[in-house]
Amino acid sequence: MRYKSQSVAYWYFAVAMVLFGLQLVFGLLSATKYLGPDPLLYILPFDVTKTIHTNLLIVWVITGFMGATYWLVPDESRTELHSTRLAYIQLVLWTGMGVAAVIGYLFRYGTGNKLLEQPLPHKLIMVVCFAIFIYNIGMTIKRSGRFTTTEGVLVLGIVSTAVLFVPALLHYENYTVSIFYRWWTIHLWVEGVWMMIMGAFLAYLLIRLSGADREVLEKWLYVIVGLVFLAGILGTAHHYYWVGVPYYWLPIGGFFSALEPLAIVGMAMYAYGAMRRSGMSHPNVLALHWTLGSTIFTLFGAGLLGLAHTWPSINKWTHGTLITAMHGHAAFYGAYAMICLAMITYAMPSLTHGRPEKGTSIGYWAFWLQLAGMFGMTISFATAGIGQVYLERIMGMGYLDAQLKIQIHFVMLIVCASLFSTGVGLFIYDFFRYRPRLDVTEPGVADNDIAVGRVV
Ligand code: HEM
Ligand code: HEM
Ligand SMILES: [Fe+2]
Repeated sequence: MRYKSQSVAYWYFAVAMVLFGLQLVFGLLSATKYLGPDPLLYILPFDVTKTIHTNLLIVWVITGFMGATYWLVPDESRTELHSTRLAYIQLVLWTGMGVAAVIGYLFRYGTGNKLLEQPLPHKLIMVVCFAIFIYNIGMTIKRSGRFTTTEGVLVLGIVSTAVLFVPALLHYENYTVSIFYRWWTIHLWVEGVWMMIMGAFLAYLLIRLSGADREVLEKWLYVIVGLVFLAGILGTAHHYYWVGVPYYWLPIGGFFSALEPLAIVGMAMYAYGAMRRSGMSHPNVLALHWTLGSTIFTLFGAGLLGLAHTWPSINKWTHGTLITAMHGHAAFYGAYAMICLAMITYAMPSLTHGRPEKGTSIGYWAFWLQLAGMFGMTISFATAGIGQVYLERIMGMGYLDAQLKIQIHFVMLIVCASLFSTGVGLFIYDFFRYRPRLDVTEPGVADNDIAVGRVV
């Protein structure tokens, strides 16, 4: 850690870890309900556990993004953060909002708009948090006078995340109108502007971990992120099939969303290419596992499994089935959970006392168990989803009868989810077993600049 104020990142990461753990508890609760009978039916029904599961996901991932940004910006701009006080106020408000939302859901206090169920007061607090965050980062960069491309893409991603939250603040009585705008937030977050955030973290990590040239990596960053973004904007229309909007959205959605995986392939090739060209000049091999792992799993979950159901003639059968859950898990985990875990793994040796730079064996177990578990979960959802589509949508069997026939896949889901949760448990244990460190460890230039004997 080169700047004392980077230590705020530790507390953001710590909150993210706790919420990640809690997210899995509600995931497991949701999964067991598929096996029935459900003793908690009237206290914690499926809709409540699922809402809490997905909301905790969104909150912890954004907490991870915020922490990683507070770590990255001082490093890139070579200065202390504008205000650590503001960063802590933001964290307290943000965490308070997240916890209050979860408690609210337990008492059925929510808006029912999938993934955006937070009531208006909570949403307004989120807006305040985004404002504090953007102000703090902006002032830090402005004061330093050094603004890198990596930071530019990151800041653009963060500002756009906040702007795209605006449609989520409005309430529409008409269901078609409501669903139309819901995707402006959800789809444009995950397939548009969060890709910028992921791309920026990826460039930052690759520059430092592989020793590859900043100029080359940053040039490609522009191209790839630009491509995802362009295809992603009109790709929104892959959510506009049969929701009450005009027919012309079908070909637009099919064509542009089918282009999205191209850029995701580019991203994985970019990461692998950087590694091959420059080799490893950094000892933190565990962070490299998470970084490369993230691009490959995104290729699988978002690129391949997204493409699998994005064409209208397929989506008309698979829409809203367990095929969606298959893709949602692998894509979200690969792109956003894993890139956060990569940033955490990169920063932790400097943020704590005594954590070895190259990672611990517990850390490697955490990586492989999570990967194996999530892969198995994805396949479980896929097999359940294929069965569901044939029985329910093609043969016309009733929803609950079809669910009874595919129960066996949920046994496999729970077994794989237990493996996955063990991996997450080990990651969390590996995180908290070292004391946080609040002082500067390596004053001077960036790690990679030292490694390659160059100061840029
Ligand atoms: C990292 C990137 C991505 C993430 C995190 C992600 C995540 C998700 C999630 C959570 C859903 C369910 C949303 C809901 O029903 O509320 C979803 C739906 C969908 N995604 Fe993605 N996705 C990503 C990229 C892609 C890509 C690249 C494609 C296409 C090539 C794609 C195609 C689809 C389709 C077609 C649906 C609608 C499924 C349905 O009709 O039920 N996704 N995605
Ligand atoms: C212990 C591990 C987990 C279990 C057992 C689990 C289980 C579940 C279940 C049963 C659902 C409801 C599916 C449905 O609507 O029928 C769900 C939804 C969802 N989960 Fe998980 N989950 C786990 C971990 C995760 C992780 C790590 C992520 C992301 C990083 C994630 C992302 C999602 C998303 C985006 C949805 C909504 C999908 C949709 O609406 O189609 N889950 N999960
Ligand atoms: Fe989408």
